[in-house]
Amino acid sequence: MSASTEDRKKLRCIIIGAGNRGFRYSQYALDFPERLQVVAVADPNEKALRRMKEAHNIPDDNIHRDWKEIATKDKYAEFVVVATPDRHHKDPTVSFAKKGYHILLEKPMAISEEDCKEIAHVCKQHKVMLGVCHVLRYSPPMRKIKEIIMSGRIGDVVNIQHLEPVGFWHFGHSYVRGNWRNEAESTFSLLAKCCHDVDLIMWWMGKKRCEQISSFGSLVHFTKENKPAGAGSRCLECNVEQTCPYSAKKLYLGQFNSGNKGWPISVICNAEEPTLERVTNALKTGPYGKCAYECDNDVCDNQVVNMSFSGGATANLTMIAYTQRTCQRVVKIFGTKGEIRFDNQALQVYDFLSGKQETITLPSAPQEKSSLQGHDGADYFTFHSFVKAVQTNDPSLILSGPDDSLASHLLVFAAEKSRRQNRIVDTLTELPSWFGEIHEDI
Ligand SMILES: NC(=O)c1ccc[n+]([C@@H]2O[C@H](COP(=O)([O-])OP(=O)(O)OC[C@H]3O[C@@H](n4cnc5c(N)ncnc54)[C@H](O)[C@@H]3O)[C@@H](O)[C@H]2O)c1
Repeated sequence: MSASTEDRKKLRCIIIGAGNRGFRYSQYALDFPERLQVVAVADPNEKALRRMKEAHNIPDDNIHRDWKEIATKDKYAEFVVVATPDRHHKDPTVSFAKKGYHILLEKPMAISEEDCKEIAHVCKQHKVMLGVCHVLRYSPPMRKIKEIIMSGRIGDVVNIQHLEPVGFWHFGHSYVRGNWRNEAESTFSLLAKCCHDVDLIMWWMGKKRCEQISSFGSLVHFTKENKPAGAGSRCLECNVEQTCPYSAKKLYLGQFNSGNKGWPISVICNAEEPTLERVTNALKTGPYGKCAYECDNDVCDNQVVNMSFSGGATANLTMIAYTQRTCQRVVKIFGTKGEIRFDNQALQVYDFLSGKQETITLPSAPQEKSSLQGHDGADYFTFHSFVKAVQTNDPSLILSGPDDSLASHLLVFAAEKSRRQNRIVDTLTELPSWFGEIHEDI
């Protein structure tokens, strides 16, 4: 088959977990029906299944409450998207990889080191492509930063400062009231939120290997002790709601009334079209209407990670809930010949020798029209790269394959170990030897 015929090959995919992320990715097939068809779905949630069935016209035989029913059939698609909750990533990924499906797997890969290792191992053993949704690797500014570093323009990288401002209301939505609030039900917040950021730092450092890592952090604010005097158990029935920045009424009804029917409103309406009645009902009866100081949340709301790399370079990462911004990272990279600053979509490079500063203009959205606009278009680039990789059988188009993704996940687990055990983790002695070798390829 010629390359151009191969390029035009229409692919089939199966969505495992048709919630917020799974449904969003599936939109690519609606935007580009000549490239992709969603042929089956598995999700225990009837409403999520109905939404997928209607959007993609999936026959009843291919609608499943349990992904195992699909895994027992002969292979009938080229790839599977695994977008189940964090705790349910490993089993479907391993099963479908063993059947020869390529896998696009939501981050985090899995919630334990062992499971992450097994996923990477099985995908390699069965020669299937694995793309982990480290979407930021695909975002134009983050790629541009990598390109500038690789060009040698700022010399040798000596230090990286990286801030992940989660956003005060976003933290309340996802990590206090929502799916990632409780470690036993999901995972720790550094893995859930900042596996992206540790991954970027590792990627930008290239061949420099992280040799030591330490971390501090805790849950400071969203606790029962900090509940305001006179507050109710639900924001709709609270006498002091108007004085609380975390009011669910303000957040959800406020955003809905301003016309937002997408995230996070879509999440609280459980895969149904948001209406005033549904939003109000969710606040009356569901988790998103609870007082932010009365939830069973226990994940850190602030955490710092310090990293020491071979050759003496260092990096630090701060994850903080209490910010105006929502996940718009701030990055400073200091090299021996210049520095890179990235803030609020502005990317600047300063050259020590010439004293000149360049502001680099980046495309603000994908060139082709797509509804996958999340993460400033990075969701589109991630999905599109994976589709292209499968279509052309070229794994080099996947920027977040099994080795890199496993390596950066291992660093996240090491950082969390440091925080819990109150000690520096030495990756030279505590991580496997291949962790060092992989840096030759990054
Ligand atoms: N790449 C990113 O930046 C990014 C952003 C947000 C979320 N995520 C990750 O994506 C994944 C999905 O998150 P989400 O926001 O879509 O959550 P979600 O709760 O909206 O969707 C998960 C879906 O999986 C379904 N499900 C649960 N158990 C299942 C099972 N055993 N088999 C099949 N389906 C099952 C649920 O019913 C739900 O519909 C999570 O791992 C999350 O951490 C990644």
